[in-house]
Amino acid sequence: AQAHYLSTLHGLSVEPLREPPLVTVPKKITQFIDEASRVCTPSNIHICDGSETEYNNLINLMVQQNMAAPLPKYQNCYLTRTDPRDVARVESRTIISTSNKHDVVPNGFNPHKGALPNWMSPEELEKQLGDRFPRCMEGRTMYVIPFSMGPVGSPLSKIGIQCTDSPYVAVSMRIMTRMGLDVLKILNEDTPFVKCLHSVGAPITPGSTRPVWPCNPENTLISHRPESNEILSYGSGYGGNSLLGKKCLALRLGSYMAHKEDWLAEHMLILGITNPQGVKKYVAAAFPSACGKTNLAMMTPNLPGWKIECVGDDIAWMRFNPNTGMLHAINPENGFFGVAPGTSKKTNPNAMASIFQDTIFTNVASTNDGGVYWEGMGEKPEGVVDWHGNDWDGKSNAAHPNSRFCTPARNCPIMDASWEDPEGVPISAILFGGRRPEGVPLVYEAYDWDHGVYIGASMRSEATAAAEHQGKVIMHDPFAMRPFVGYNMGQYFDHWLSFGRKKHVQLPKIFHVNWFRKDSNGSFLWPGFGDNIRVLEWIMKRMEESSPESEIAKKSPIGVIPTESGFNLDNVSVDWNELFRLDKSFWAKESSDIQKYFNDNLGHDLPPQIRNQLNLIQERIQKL
Ligand code: GDP
Ligand code: PGA
Ligand code: MN
Ligand code: MN
Repeated sequence: AQAHYLSTLHGLSVEPLREPPLVTVPKKITQFIDEASRVCTPSNIHICDGSETEYNNLINLMVQQNMAAPLPKYQNCYLTRTDPRDVARVESRTIISTSNKHDVVPNGFNPHKGALPNWMSPEELEKQLGDRFPRCMEGRTMYVIPFSMGPVGSPLSKIGIQCTDSPYVAVSMRIMTRMGLDVLKILNEDTPFVKCLHSVGAPITPGSTRPVWPCNPENTLISHRPESNEILSYGSGYGGNSLLGKKCLALRLGSYMAHKEDWLAEHMLILGITNPQGVKKYVAAAFPSACGKTNLAMMTPNLPGWKIECVGDDIAWMRFNPNTGMLHAINPENGFFGVAPGTSKKTNPNAMASIFQDTIFTNVASTNDGGVYWEGMGEKPEGVVDWHGNDWDGKSNAAHPNSRFCTPARNCPIMDASWEDPEGVPISAILFGGRRPEGVPLVYEAYDWDHGVYIGASMRSEATAAAEHQGKVIMHDPFAMRPFVGYNMGQYFDHWLSFGRKKHVQLPKIFHVNWFRKDSNGSFLWPGFGDNIRVLEWIMKRMEESSPESEIAKKSPIGVIPTESGFNLDNVSVDWNELFRLDKSFWAKESSDIQKYFNDNLGHDLPPQIRNQLNLIQERIQKL
């Protein structure tokens, strides 16, 4: 089958591929497109070639439809405002469907809403899809997006074909993934690919009004079929729900594949760090959504002579390399979908240098000189229009707290020279962390691999605006993967433990960090951002040490912590004792909360090594 075959699909007009004139498209792919269009009945099909002309045409179409507005203050930047009901990931409506429930839901599960992946039976999902997808693209164009997660043609990359009725998704996918003709060209009949179907769920019927941001919040469903490599997403245009390469493919299906194929798909940034002596290491870090990954990945160090380079800010695919014995990581993405509020020249100058060209902003505020504004950006300009499109009253949020920039990685001035290396970069340390206003010190180190896996498994963090949760409750979020793990969490913990049993490998050291501890007035105890280099400096020194005790390190019940004299506090004033205070009653409660969480949610699927680690920590805390 060849591309021009597509132009006869159901007699619909298919916008032709521009060049080269003919691309051989594997039959499996034309069949998928055919099937999607038969069910969803779009009025048009557009196969995306990924060209700049196509991007500009789609943006112009969005501008005509009031879905995007140009930002003339910058170069090639646009602002979209979503329906206020469609601003974040919807975890309660995100499901994994497998034939065997236990493949997704641990035994002894005590239904605790949103605690672990939601499972749906294949029969129920079939029914739910049947209630949604038929004729859902009526009156709309279906965009077909061939994309690669990871460099095109790399043995570590995965291919997806996304059919969507949202031009916003098409242009965003061009930024966030490698998309278009280059991907079609490398496919053959045997290339596995993930079938991704997405609809905003708002057909245009005769006489209906056209919403500026079509969506269907009442019927939103983000579903995954890992056994057949399919993603079906309905009702939301918001990035995390609609750009299916990102959370759905790279993390949910990715983690399922990784479990089967002996690698790891993680919610992690990857950065390179070079010390003043010129020694370079790579670090990966898992923090929940809106807890500091993008900022750490692009950090400008506040210590002279140090250099940070960015490999990725959200997702890491990692496997042990048989030649080096080290855990090698690639960033499967091609851009940044970053939190706007809090981004400023002071906090993240590299993001500020990236986002004022070729960027799509979503739900930020705009200014009367054709620019953007958000909380924490700097001086408040005059004449701000808030994210709803109303004149800003100066009191409510100007930008939505989960407003985002979507910008190509190539715009970032500190991309690492190896960021697209198909071999990946060797990881020397893994960081876990979250927003912990109370009790949790700035940094501590695991005693060994199993302890490190326990630290990942017992992660907790304050809820953020990245998903629908209300208020600032402290939520359990193992490995920052609670919303993204594609299989049984007990098996996931076990998969992590299995790396500790591998022979002839160099395991990365594991640390926990917390930039967000507060004092009694509610102010952050740690300056954060560029000063986080001080923590990375200590971590880098610890990479050279194997004993838990040294001039710079000492034991504590929860792990190895820095000595005050072994930690660089030049030109910064902090309350060291408060930053590292370990309160016995806090940690006793913390470990009993974790125990309860494990019992309720993992039951018999909790690996014995994790229970053992919990017991050891509880014993050590008793001695505090
Ligand atoms: P991500 O969603 O995990 O990538 O998190 P981001 O890096 O986008 O940060 C989310 C929010 O946390 C933004 O408002 C940041 O300004 C803020 N943030 C990031 N790093 C720090 C830090 O070290 N200290 C403080 N206080 N806030 C931070
Ligand atoms: P984040 O990415 O981790 O940068 O917030 C989006 C998300 O996780 O929803
Ligand atoms: Mn994320
Ligand atoms: Mn981010």
